[in-house]
Amino acid sequence: MATTTLSREPVNYDPFDYALHDDPYPVYRRLRDEAPVFHNKKFNFWALSRYEDCANAARDFRTFSSAQGTSLEDLKAQVEYLINTDPPVHTKLRHLISNLFTPQQVAPLEDAVRQMARELLAPHLATGRIDIIGDFAAKLPMAIICRLLGFPREDEDMLRAWTDSVVHREEGKFEMPDEGMHATLKLYDYFNQDMAKRAEGQTREDIIAMLMQAEAEGRLKHDDVVGYIYILSIAGNETTTKLIGNICYQLHKHPDQAALLRSDMALLPSAIEEVMRFDGPTQMMARTTTRDVSLHGETIPAGAKVALIFTSANRDERKYKDAESFDIRRNARDHLGFGGGLHACLGAALARLEAKVAMEEIIAALGHFEVDESGLDRMHSPSVRGFTHVPLRFDPK
Ligand code: HEM
Repeated sequence: MATTTLSREPVNYDPFDYALHDDPYPVYRRLRDEAPVFHNKKFNFWALSRYEDCANAARDFRTFSSAQGTSLEDLKAQVEYLINTDPPVHTKLRHLISNLFTPQQVAPLEDAVRQMARELLAPHLATGRIDIIGDFAAKLPMAIICRLLGFPREDEDMLRAWTDSVVHREEGKFEMPDEGMHATLKLYDYFNQDMAKRAEGQTREDIIAMLMQAEAEGRLKHDDVVGYIYILSIAGNETTTKLIGNICYQLHKHPDQAALLRSDMALLPSAIEEVMRFDGPTQMMARTTTRDVSLHGETIPAGAKVALIFTSANRDERKYKDAESFDIRRNARDHLGFGGGLHACLGAALARLEAKVAMEEIIAALGHFEVDESGLDRMHSPSVRGFTHVPLRFDPK
């Protein structure tokens, strides 16, 4: 008699399948247990899902290279963004701005983040409803990154619409849709025009001014400057937005943990780390192998794309006790939600600051809230996980 276990289909991991986006965690668990070195034959890429394997691969840039891009699809244009380079190019690019994003450097932004958060929440308090993504979290990080880059406030919505298009993927499709390509070109155009205005005499003091100075001194190529601005606008926008939505959602799903947090707001930083571990916005990043790699009885050939599934690693029971349970006291700061190794997130301190201030303000202004699950809407991307709409209900103020 065939048992359920025997008749079970082999596990499949298809990050372009919308069905996976609703709840990828059972698939991740099966990958870790049954196929820790998984080969997706349809799209011809490999995937690592255990903590130790992902952490090792993220550190071993000589074997797991970023130079062919960090998406599963091939790079269309060979622009050397920070995130798409290996040393020594990466070392030079990262060194140039890494000191601008340390916890000490971003701390002075706290007042601006708080003021922006209050401004965004205020119009909704009397209604008892807010879409915490559309009305709040989608706006806050873009406003802060625009401030850092010196872009005017009236351009924020337009820039956000373009950056959203860049990360969106059609169901079952491997490539960036045309809309995303067009949005990329519009972003480049916008950045180039902004720099041209500055070259004509509009002087400002911000990150772009610093990068243009490096270009003028011959330390950076023009493409490097555009690449920097591009990656900062994309990385700083989408992921932090999704993190704030995921925090609200997980607190709603775990009322005991929400009550614990409300009774002791000092737990907030640890609660943020737990959401990063348990349901972080960056699911996976890709690498390309520079040599054959043998692991767990499989051989990944040289030149293969490999997905490092960071959020699967973060739920690896080989690493974390009760890994599948959400515990805001856990404070596992060694999770891979911000990646690891040389490419570990440059903006992590800023993301943590924004999430902390945002949640302090949301909890103070709304009091107890619930998610109206009928209005939830998930975004679809092979790498970014989170919602496009998270409607909250609370007592009108
Ligand atoms: C919750 C929010 C965020 C998440 C989950 C996140 C996640 C990540 C991850 C996983 C990586 C590693 C990429 C890899 O291994 O290939 C990364 C890199 C990066 N992140 Fe973030 N990030 C967030 C916020 C931000 C913010 C606010 C900024 C900018 C201000 C930023 C800028 C970058 C940059 C520039 C890199 C590339 C670093 C390098 O290649 O050396 N991120 N991020």
